[in-house]
Amino acid sequence: MKTVKDYIRTIADFPHEGIMFRDVTTLFADPRGFRMAIDQLLHPWAGEQIDKVVGLEARGFILGGAIAHQLSKGFVPIRKKGKLPGQTISQSYKLEYGEAIMELHDDAIQPGEKVLVVDDLLATGGTCEAAIKLVERLGGEIVGCSFIVDLPELGGRNLLRDLGMQVHVLCE
Ligand code: PRP
Ligand code: ADE
Repeated sequence: MKTVKDYIRTIADFPHEGIMFRDVTTLFADPRGFRMAIDQLLHPWAGEQIDKVVGLEARGFILGGAIAHQLSKGFVPIRKKGKLPGQTISQSYKLEYGEAIMELHDDAIQPGEKVLVVDDLLATGGTCEAAIKLVERLGGEIVGCSFIVDLPELGGRNLLRDLGMQVHVLCE
């Protein structure tokens, strides 16, 4: 039987030379693969209180939307700078290739709400760290962070663990 990893393809030198891009669109496009990924991303949080699912732009929206639907909870996007229409709070962060700013609507999370953070891939952890800071600045409490892929050599998992996060990944 195929595993989640089997549905992911690697594209060399995208978006820059030397980057091995782990492309999850092939996983999303397969009905069995996509359902398997959503089910597995949810599995460790069964029985936990979750009030909001936060998805990170862009592929975290696809996963987070499906997970929020499955849980019958609300979905909240964290987006790159300048994309959200309402009042936002901002957080800068470093990427494997470059630097950017993430934003969250300032009324999207209520103090004390329990939040699950979802994205396709964990590399340096900079994106997720920025998301955690944004959620916590609004008083949200992170239940955990779920990813399809971890790139262990980039250290993101250790970074998030050092921040006290529960981290769950489907494959490396
Ligand atoms: C990728 C990926 C994560 C992030 C992980 O997104 O989807 O969000 O990088 O990297 P990090 O752990 O080093 O922060 P990307 O920044 O390529 O943006 P996109 O989803 O908008 O294409
Ligand atoms: N984001 C950061 N590094 C990546 C990689 N190697 N593949 C896919 N997304 C990424």
